[in-house]
Amino acid sequence: MSLSPQQEARAQEVAFTLNSHLPEAYRHDLLEEQRRIFDEVPSIGESINRTILIVGGAGYIGSVLTGHFLGKGYRVRSFDYLMFNNGLTVTPYLAHQDYEFMRGDFADEKDFARALDGVTDVVLLAGLVGDPITKTYPEEAAKINDDGHATMLRLLNGRSLNKVVFVSTCSNYGLIEGDQLADENFELNPLSLYAKSKVRVEKKLLSLKGKVDYTPTILRFATAFGLSPRMRFDLTVSEFTRDLFLGNDLLVFDAETWRPYCHLQDFAELIRRVLEAPLANVAFDVFNAGGEVNNFTKQMIVDAILEQLPNAKVRYQEHGADPRNYRVNFAKVRERLFFEPSHTVSDGIRELISAMNQGLFAEITQPSSFYGNWEIKYPA
Ligand SMILES: NC(=O)c1ccc[n+]([C@@H]2O[C@H](COP(=O)([O-])OP(=O)(O)OC[C@H]3O[C@@H](n4cnc5c(N)ncnc54)[C@H](O)[C@@H]3O)[C@@H](O)[C@H]2O)c1
Repeated sequence: MSLSPQQEARAQEVAFTLNSHLPEAYRHDLLEEQRRIFDEVPSIGESINRTILIVGGAGYIGSVLTGHFLGKGYRVRSFDYLMFNNGLTVTPYLAHQDYEFMRGDFADEKDFARALDGVTDVVLLAGLVGDPITKTYPEEAAKINDDGHATMLRLLNGRSLNKVVFVSTCSNYGLIEGDQLADENFELNPLSLYAKSKVRVEKKLLSLKGKVDYTPTILRFATAFGLSPRMRFDLTVSEFTRDLFLGNDLLVFDAETWRPYCHLQDFAELIRRVLEAPLANVAFDVFNAGGEVNNFTKQMIVDAILEQLPNAKVRYQEHGADPRNYRVNFAKVRERLFFEPSHTVSDGIRELISAMNQGLFAEITQPSSFYGNWEIKYPA
């Protein structure tokens, strides 16, 4: 090992300062992992900070993840096609010395090769996201989510990258009858083009063991909530809260269907935990991402909103267009990475109500392309 004093200091900082809340023995494992990275990952060179490529860095999750990594001393390159005219989400970061933005299409070999140049780790967030939009744009979905991911996975190899995180979805579990909780080995039952494509990418990634020189980890995300520079009001917690705050007519379909939810800040923490974790804890592995505390039915979300907005009115209907129903077990991420969400659904509702009390998000003509995944023009 030939770490510079600055590298050793950064390794200690990551292991002991950034993760001071984790168990003592695990923090020593983290220190060994940081030393391994400095020693073995060529693209880090003499540098003391890793460069994280966030593909989809201008999106709902990516723009929050960017701030999280910069705040923890990482360098960030954000790569995004700005599919939703969402360039504004990156402007606050542009002057940051450790930040770089590249516009491009990951389905385009030249664009993506340029994005990969000189980075140490990659977080794959980009894509056409959600069941409704992939149904509206099936050809674009195939080009982006299937062909584009095939291009990306091919180009990731041969660059001595360190870790690659692929953000997948708990939607892969589809429709679960009864009250079973899906762990990572539960049978997948993707119902939409969106989830089917995620399952294909997962399978492809796991089949690459021994054939590629990077280490992928798959995170099956719960449905996100929380404030972001790019809000998405096509996601249940935010959509319901905003509608009820504004006194809009809210019709809730299939109120007793379950899904897991997770706050954006918790997702950011989890992605960093994966990138810092000992290789053996995460290599070629799949984790449900969230916590049981936020397994909610739509009715439970409405009830949590009504606690804060007691005069709001809701209508209900059965047999909506979205049959998904799944409750998820998060034991693996808790045991392996000590991850438990620190925000509840009620916290997310409170944040949004407090922003709306200050006049934010009132004037949105729907569907707008910026505030939800409703419309795209691809290629631009
Ligand atoms: N938001 C959720 O509730 C949720 C839940 C489960 C999983 N996920 C996963 O998390 C990831 C991010 O979701 P999000 O909510 O931030 O979505 P988002 O739509 O807000 O962000 C996706 C970003 O990818 C970019 N993009 C799309 N196609 C591109 C291309 N060809 N080249 C470059 N950039 C492109 C878009 O411009 C956008 O900024 C997705 O992979 C999604 O499947 C999200």
